[in-house]
Amino acid sequence: MKPRVLSGIQPTGSLHIGNYLGALKNWVRMQHDYECVFCIVDLHAITVYQDPAELRQKIEQTAAIFIAAGIDPQISSVVVQSTVAAHAELCWLLTCCTPLGWLERMTQFKDKAAKQESIGDGLLQYPVLMAADILLYKANAVPVGDDQSQHLELTRDLAQRFNALYGETFVMPETKLPTIGARIMGLDDPTKKMSKSETGSGHAISLLDEPSVIRKKIMRATTDSNPHVDLVNMGPGVVNLLTIHQAFSGWTDDQVKSHFAGMRYGDLKKTVAEAVVAGLEPLQKRYKEITADPAYLRGVLRESAARVTPIANETVNTVKQRMGVYSD
Ligand code: TYM
Repeated sequence: MKPRVLSGIQPTGSLHIGNYLGALKNWVRMQHDYECVFCIVDLHAITVYQDPAELRQKIEQTAAIFIAAGIDPQISSVVVQSTVAAHAELCWLLTCCTPLGWLERMTQFKDKAAKQESIGDGLLQYPVLMAADILLYKANAVPVGDDQSQHLELTRDLAQRFNALYGETFVMPETKLPTIGARIMGLDDPTKKMSKSETGSGHAISLLDEPSVIRKKIMRATTDSNPHVDLVNMGPGVVNLLTIHQAFSGWTDDQVKSHFAGMRYGDLKKTVAEAVVAGLEPLQKRYKEITADPAYLRGVLRESAARVTPIANETVNTVKQRMGVYSD
């Protein structure tokens, strides 16, 4: 049996090249060596208010992007989290084993809470639901970007705690970061992570941006006061552009250094923009084909949910038995 992978993306905002390079691209690569479950995590999305009609549309859009990026639904499952009830059920069972202090310490909780007038309980429980997603399928590996590392540590702590309290049940999942692109920064402010929730038009490159928009955004990206690439003294904006190029082109460190050393920023940006446009072209073409056939997409989601539900239910039943709550 192949080892298992689980990962997920929230169907909010527009998926961007950070999501692609940090997660999706690795998923596509790993799907041949692992049995994979890729989730559109709509229950995570509603930890902050979402317009219902828009959310519904974003769920299908996100699923279409997974497949357009190269996830093959014949070999990997593409699952909408809320369609497999065991995610929410395991979340409650694990909530009852989670010390409050662990959740209050999470940096993403603190960041998100600082932006809200009133803090919903869901925001606090967010990492427990994420642990439930992973532990439900006894995933061995979780391919994510760097910003999810703390949540993954909590997942392992929680698994260990459950195993110590109720007996060996959960597998310890390993965090799999990409070698290049684990943290893509905002184009407008390269000291901040590229994020779906930032609305500034020069911040992120959406996976569905037209080539002309991609070129415009990269040409406007923040660099530094040097006129050209100085490999020994680069600001974070230039480092970010080189990282984006390398992740799309697949060049080695040496190739990147020798090609870009001394290059004027205007030319650097043109080269990066062309690498991104070319890298996204197949995804964008395939996305149009997939969304032209909504019945196909809904079929994939239905079949995937049916495929994983028995695995998820079996875990929930074991957990219930171990905890002593009633199950037959
Ligand atoms: P989300 O939707 O914020 O992001 C999806 C994936 O994209 C990665 N990512 C980035 N990688 C590199 N640079 C960036 N600027 C960047 N921004 C985002 C994220 O690390 C993530 O891998 N909590 C998760 C969703 C989730 C999940 C899970 C993930 C729910 N359950 C179980 C793994 C396993 C989240 O909000 O991701």
